[in-house]
Amino acid sequence: MPDHGSFGGNPLAFLEAELASLEAAGQRRRRISGKEPPALVLCSNDYLGYAAGRLILPPKGSPVGATASRLIAGDHPEHRALEAAVASWLGYEDALVFSSGYAANVGLLSSLLRPGDTVISDALNHASIIDGIRLARVQATIVPHNDVEAIERALKQAPLAGRRWVVTEGYFSMDSDQPDLRSLRALCDRYEAALLVDDTHALGVFAEEGRGTCALQGIRPDALVGTFGKALGGQGAFVAGPTLLTEWLWNRARSFVFSTGLSPLLAAANLAAVHMARQDEEGRTRLAILASRLRQALRGQGYQLIEGSVGPIIPVLVGPEEGAIRLSEALLRHGVRVLPIRPPTVPPGTSRLRVTVHARLTEEELEHAVDAFQKAHGEAGSS
Ligand SMILES: Cc1ncc(COP(=O)(O)O)c(C=O)c1O
Repeated sequence: MPDHGSFGGNPLAFLEAELASLEAAGQRRRRISGKEPPALVLCSNDYLGYAAGRLILPPKGSPVGATASRLIAGDHPEHRALEAAVASWLGYEDALVFSSGYAANVGLLSSLLRPGDTVISDALNHASIIDGIRLARVQATIVPHNDVEAIERALKQAPLAGRRWVVTEGYFSMDSDQPDLRSLRALCDRYEAALLVDDTHALGVFAEEGRGTCALQGIRPDALVGTFGKALGGQGAFVAGPTLLTEWLWNRARSFVFSTGLSPLLAAANLAAVHMARQDEEGRTRLAILASRLRQALRGQGYQLIEGSVGPIIPVLVGPEEGAIRLSEALLRHGVRVLPIRPPTVPPGTSRLRVTVHARLTEEELEHAVDAFQKAHGEAGSS
C-alpha cells in the first residue's frame, strides 16, 4: 500500500491541519452572527435599505419552491415577469434569472468562452468572473485594474482566430471605482470584441432609474450581469442581453440548467424591488448625500480612502491585516460593525475596511458612525 499519510479512520481529518495553516496565516474566518449587536452595520450591500424594511407578503397559496430546474419544471409566471421587468428596465431584449450572481457569472462565462478565445479580464474582477473563465478552460489576459491602454494592447495582439471578450465590473466592490466604459465600448467595437459587464453593485444606485454605471456612461454592453442581492435587497441574479443569448444560456449555462430555478416567492419580491428601485430617486439622492458626508468626515479624521472611490462604498485603506482587524475591533467597541477585508479577497498589504452606507441611515446613526470612527482612530493606532 502506498503511504498516503495518516488516515486515522477519518478521511476528512486532513482538514484540521489545513484549517490550522489558515489560522497561522491569519486567514481563518470565524462564523459571525448576522444578528449580533451592535446596532449599526456599515458593511452591507443593501444600499437602498430595502432588505430589512420591505416585507412583501405573497398571496395565500403562492408557490414557494421552483421544484426543479426550469428546464424540467418550466417557467413560473413570476420568473418571466421578473425577466421582462429587468429587460425593460435596462433596455435589453430579454433577461434570464439565475439563483445567484455567482451562478450567473459562472454560467455566462463558462458557456460563452472557448479555448483559443482572447479573454481580457480586469485584475480586480469578482471571484465568480474568475471562476467562470477558469471553468471555460481559457487562458485569460489579466490586465491591471481599469487600464484601458493595456486592454487595447491585448486586443491588438489577439490572434485572428478565436473570439474576443472584454470582461469587467461596472462598479468595483472593493475599490469602489468605475471603469471608463465608454472607451471600452469603443475599443470593443473597433477590435470586434464583445463587452461583458457585471454591474452588480451599481444597479439601483447610479443613473436615472438606478440603471447603473453603463447607463451613467451612456453605453450598452453586449451582456449585462446584475444581482438582486445588493441594492435591491433580495436574492438571485440575471444576465440581460439579446434573446439569442438568453436562449443559449437556457441551453448551455450549466449553473442554470443543473440547478433548481429561483424561488417564485423571491422572484415576486425581486420584481417588486425592481419597480421600487426604478422610482426611488429620493433614496438615490439621500444615499449620495450620506456617502459624501461620511467620506468627507473620514478624510477629515485622517483616514486614507482609496483613490478614485465613489458612491456608497467607502474603502478605508489600512494596509497590514492586523491594522485592519484592530480598527474593526475598535469600531465594534463603539457600536459600529465593519468587517476587515483581507487577502485573498484583496492583494496583500492592502487590507481595508469596506465601509458602506445605505439610504435609510438616520442623522443620529450617521453622527454615531462619525463619532465611532473618530474614537477608533486613536485606539487602533492606524489610519
Ligand atoms: C461583482 C459581483 N458579482 C457577483 C457577485 C455574486 O453575487 P451573489 O452574491 O448573488 O452570488 C458579487 C457578490 O458579492 C459581486 O460583488
